[in-house]
Amino acid sequence: MKHIVVLTGAGVSAESGFATFRDAGGLWEKYDVNDVASIEGWYRNRKLVLDFYNGLRKQLEAARPNAAHELIAGLEKDYKVDVITQNVDNLHERAGSTRVLHLHGELTKVRPENGIYDRTASEAEVVDIGYGSVGLGDLAPGGSQLRPHIVFFGEAVPNIEKAIGLVEKADILLIVGSSLQVYPAAGLYRYAPMDCPIFVIDPKPVPLSDPRVTFIQDVATRGMAEFVKALECK
Ligand code: APR
Repeated sequence: MKHIVVLTGAGVSAESGFATFRDAGGLWEKYDVNDVASIEGWYRNRKLVLDFYNGLRKQLEAARPNAAHELIAGLEKDYKVDVITQNVDNLHERAGSTRVLHLHGELTKVRPENGIYDRTASEAEVVDIGYGSVGLGDLAPGGSQLRPHIVFFGEAVPNIEKAIGLVEKADILLIVGSSLQVYPAAGLYRYAPMDCPIFVIDPKPVPLSDPRVTFIQDVATRGMAEFVKALECK
């Protein structure tokens, strides 16, 4: 069975009603990324950060996976599929994808901040709160403030090694809806084998000067339909 590795970004969830980050009208036009998505922002104003992610969690509860998420999940019928997503939503899982690696954390989970030591929490300390809210003073069993299970700017990306291992073994790499501006995720495609075709789906040109790339310039839902058709023709 051929192995398809899918790397997704905010664009795959745009048609589910989620704003992307860097497009016009995107989240980083409305909020200062340094306030709500950086480790410095967290230490400066925890309440602001908690409220921001509480709001996104509510939005996620109301959102539904779109046809692109569903077509990605459907690939599992004929292929071994690993989804590596930069998204913190759970729309891939809700569409039925069974192997999803989150690079930048998960909105439905929280973990202890571990105070001044800033130690990265262990997997066992991560708590699933679904679509609930977390406030200042909501503490983990060890007594420290709960924080979003999100990789903030300025923090390490613990799952990057696992992601590299998957990309290195891909027969086909598919990238959907990412501006590829944020590292280390943006450099993952470089680990694909030399003979691995890379498909990129995005309505805007994504500057990838790699001879392995076939660009499908369209939104995720239509682009995925075209990608599936291209696979059938092989
Ligand atoms: N279908 C597919 N792609 C789309 C759609 C759509 N309907 N609408 C927009 N896009 C594309 C945009 O053209 C852009 O290339 O999705 C991409 C979104 O890019 P960004 O907003 O930069 O999001 P992403 O690449 O996921 O950002 C990476 O940055 O802010 C951090 O941690 C955050 O995970 C995020 C990371």
